Amino acid sequence: MSKYVNLIDLSDYPTEWWNKIVSLAQDIKDNPGRYSESCKGKIMATLFYEPSTRTQMSFQTAMLRLGGSIIGFDNPSTSSVSKGENLKDTTKIVSSYADVLVIRNPQPGSAKAAALSADCPIINAGDGGHLHPTQTLTDLLTLKEEKGRLDNLTIGLCGDLKNGRTVHSLLKAMSSYPDNKFVLISTEELSLPSYIKDILDAKGCSYREVYSLEDAIAELDVLYMTRIQKERFSSEEEYEQQKNVYVLDRKKLINAKRDLVIMHPLPRVDEITVDVDDDPRAMYFKQAKYGMYVRMALILSILSNSCAGAELLIGKCHDGVRCSNPKCVTNSEEYLPKSFIGNGDTLVCEYCDERTLI
Ligand code: NCD
Repeated sequence: MSKYVNLIDLSDYPTEWWNKIVSLAQDIKDNPGRYSESCKGKIMATLFYEPSTRTQMSFQTAMLRLGGSIIGFDNPSTSSVSKGENLKDTTKIVSSYADVLVIRNPQPGSAKAAALSADCPIINAGDGGHLHPTQTLTDLLTLKEEKGRLDNLTIGLCGDLKNGRTVHSLLKAMSSYPDNKFVLISTEELSLPSYIKDILDAKGCSYREVYSLEDAIAELDVLYMTRIQKERFSSEEEYEQQKNVYVLDRKKLINAKRDLVIMHPLPRVDEITVDVDDDPRAMYFKQAKYGMYVRMALILSILSNSCAGAELLIGKCHDGVRCSNPKCVTNSEEYLPKSFIGNGDTLVCEYCDERTLI
């Protein structure tokens, strides 16, 4: 077992654990005064190698509202990373200063890699296009508050389902609650990675892939819009072809349910027109605020937990085999054990979940 309760992937913990965080967040939201000194004397470090507004600031505000303190960087070019320091050394050092470390990094698998060398719990605030578990906790709290339930929902996810880490984490989580159905709305180029579809299949979830938002909107209880993840494209040209394919405007909402909940992890670019903001079904700004409460609950739970966390690596290394995902952290941080879980003639990378054929 890991010495620390890290949050790399929500799937490392049972749904009861997620539910407890959501319930605690609800209590914090209703009784903030009770928690204002809960983390007094504790320090949280935020290491943001990628841009962020909400995630970073809501984490920082969460810790300050719990009575703790914060350190960190939001621009690696002003830290020793710019001198060539590897992830291991930065993590090792900062984790010896702080009680909990929140990391966002463009490489899939980087949060797990950081946890391997950290001397405090690690929270994944986004590892490339892979996962974003704390956004999912935010989304769970939003659904609990605004729909009153996490099951029996028809959820449409629209936009960049290929590169959107919030989508991957959310689908993994929502497929664990009974009777949820998913409508995956995207172009063929930006469709959901097959490993997430395999998870939906394994859980027996109903889902279908469609192109048209207009056709799907009437049946949805929840519409989760996403930004086209420009920074994950290999060329500007490819991005230009995909941007503006999906734009939610007031006209498209005419056929939507009266109690639809419109979510978006933000930032929004053009995928929701500004006039939708005044629609009572638009929940994305509230959702961002819920993110602060859920992160307060998460920090508090992690810091007050004395038991061991989920195992970080359980697979094994295979002679000369490397992850086939060029972006995977194991392909740039050479010292990392290249650990895979065996699955027939394919090996699943334990960092980024990509499959490699042997
Ligand atoms: C998302 C992210 O960083 O993945 N933003 C966030 O954390 N709220 C979504 C995005 O950048 O499009």
